[in-house]
Amino acid sequence: MKTLRKIVKISGLLTVLLACFVGLVLTQSNNQAMAAKNRGKQTLVVYFSYKRNSDGKPLSVGNTARVAQDIQKKTGADTYEIKAARPYTGSYQHVVDQAQREENRRARPAIAGSLPNVKKYKTVFVGGPIWWGEYPMVVYTFMDRVNLNHKTLIPFTTSEGSGLGNTSAALKHKYPQARVRRGFTAVGNTVKNHPNAVARRVNAWLDGLGY
Ligand SMILES: Cc1cc2nc3c(=O)[nH]c(=O)nc-3n(C[C@H](O)[C@H](O)[C@H](O)COP(=O)(O)O)c2cc1C
Repeated sequence: MKTLRKIVKISGLLTVLLACFVGLVLTQSNNQAMAAKNRGKQTLVVYFSYKRNSDGKPLSVGNTARVAQDIQKKTGADTYEIKAARPYTGSYQHVVDQAQREENRRARPAIAGSLPNVKKYKTVFVGGPIWWGEYPMVVYTFMDRVNLNHKTLIPFTTSEGSGLGNTSAALKHKYPQARVRRGFTAVGNTVKNHPNAVARRVNAWLDGLGY
């Protein structure tokens, strides 16, 4: 009888401990989900995307735009697309020539429309295709016109082999008081041909950043 009472007591105690443990785990994962949601609200995804593949064929959604959409889906962030006032049109070669001239002059092509109010965001993802190893000049126009110091900045790019290029360094240089975190890059053709695989990579990267 005594032994039975002991067993009942111990199992009661174990049940209470288990309930506490489960409660703790649930609270923690709930807190993490809430934190990620809040981060999403304070996050902006800025990107430029030219919507034409390296073979010159037009794309319905640009490669970088697609990655921007993946980031938005996972984080719930706001998005802002940088659009050049003088759009990049005509043949692929024409665009390459125009972009090359801008690059050579370190031009600052005008942006169409208004700029976002970046004051309300703590984190800004800054994305673009890689043009000659760096962000297109119109992204520099954006960077010149908004102050992203004291924010967390995260580059993302698509390219045909240059990876992130010098984008992390460019952000650090432009905003010395910002915290620049590990960026994401994908090959443009892979984004086009295997969007789901790229989306999974984007999600894994964002998990690593705490989203
Ligand atoms: C003007 C121009 C310059 C480019 N320069 C590079 C480069 O230096 N390195 C590279 O890997 N890809 C380069 N590319 C390829 C693009 O980065 C790649 O196709 C990208 O995925 C396009 O993304 P988007 O559809 O968002 O514009 C260049 C493309 C263009 C149009």
